[in-house]
Amino acid sequence: ERPLRLGLVGLGTVGGGVIRLLQTNEALITRRAGRPIEVVAISARDRTKDRGVDLSRFEWVDDMMALATRDDIDVVVELIGGADGPALTLARAVLGAGKPFVTANKAMLAHHGLGLAGLAEKAGVALKYEAAVAGGIPVIKGLREGAAANEISRVYGILNGTCNYILTTMERTGRSFGDVLRDAQDLGYAEADPSFDIDGVDAAHKLSILASLAFGTELNFADVDITGIRHVIAADIAEAAALGFRVRLVGMAENSANGLFQRVHPMLVPVNHPLSHVDGALNAVVADGNFVGRLFFQGAGAGDGPTASAVVADLIDVARDEYGDPFAMPVSSLARQPKADAGKR
Ligand code: NAP
Ligand code: HSE
Repeated sequence: ERPLRLGLVGLGTVGGGVIRLLQTNEALITRRAGRPIEVVAISARDRTKDRGVDLSRFEWVDDMMALATRDDIDVVVELIGGADGPALTLARAVLGAGKPFVTANKAMLAHHGLGLAGLAEKAGVALKYEAAVAGGIPVIKGLREGAAANEISRVYGILNGTCNYILTTMERTGRSFGDVLRDAQDLGYAEADPSFDIDGVDAAHKLSILASLAFGTELNFADVDITGIRHVIAADIAEAAALGFRVRLVGMAENSANGLFQRVHPMLVPVNHPLSHVDGALNAVVADGNFVGRLFFQGAGAGDGPTASAVVADLIDVARDEYGDPFAMPVSSLARQPKADAGKR
């Protein structure tokens, strides 16, 4: 069978994980994909960096934009990050050239997802982003395909592994916020700029993507109300515990006649609520559908292995030629829903 040939841009936590996963599970992935998935060309900033994986059999390219139009590249995988800049230029070039594009970049999708989906639709190619929300949890597939027949009224959950790791480690050990944040960075959970994590922006990016998928509404990141966990101290967590609660950063979206409500903020979660048992860098997503009932997805929300798992799942779909509209319906069918008037909630 003809292999699916990749151009892989970004060789950090996630990019390195993708290469390791493709190598480790090569035979299984080939059987599931129906053909081999082969990295052909790679790119990042620093050619000389030791990345702990053998890259010698791949072609290094300095000009990543050239991947968009090369005949020997079938799909481009973007694992650089950043809402704008080179990731966005690359996405537009690749989709514009009629090639499938796979990304883990929730910031770019939250800001430019509809435009990119429009390009993918026009070219009739895949735009896949399972890894962009909740790391290894297949929640995009779950909402986009598994729950596609449902009216979903509410979607909420723990959407940032770094924050959950910080809050649960502080709770267990009493260590300081800054100390535990450094651990989360060392473990590869945090964004390049960790203020995106601790200020709730990353969770808001993900929430806006989930809301669009769940409700069939246009992406609306600008209207998410955001409060992060930067100011949470060990004493807040201890006092919450004394009252029978745990502190969690929760993203919640609701679709109502009054409009679209999207909010990310630290919440007090009762100790007997399932979200209070989501530990470390795990994430959880809850969705209420009118026929399926309550769905609860849980799993690793960050880190190289789980995120690579989601990226390669997308590649397997591309290899099988199984894809549809990126946001579950054509962009022109997504409803424009104004921000809810909080006073009417
Ligand atoms: P990372 O470890 O910082 O790696 C980023 C990679 O991109 C590095 O290899 C870097 O090159 C390369 N890069 C950065 N700017 C570049 C540029 N201008 N041109 C070419 N290459 C450039 O980041 P990561 O954690 O793997 O995250 C990558 C993406 O996945 C982000 O969108 C992130 O939000 C998303 N994501 C991450 C996780 C996670 O758990 N880490 C989970 C889900 C989604 P050098 O190595 O040469 O510096
Ligand atoms: N920085 C993100 C997090 C990575 O901690 O959840 C996964 O999207």
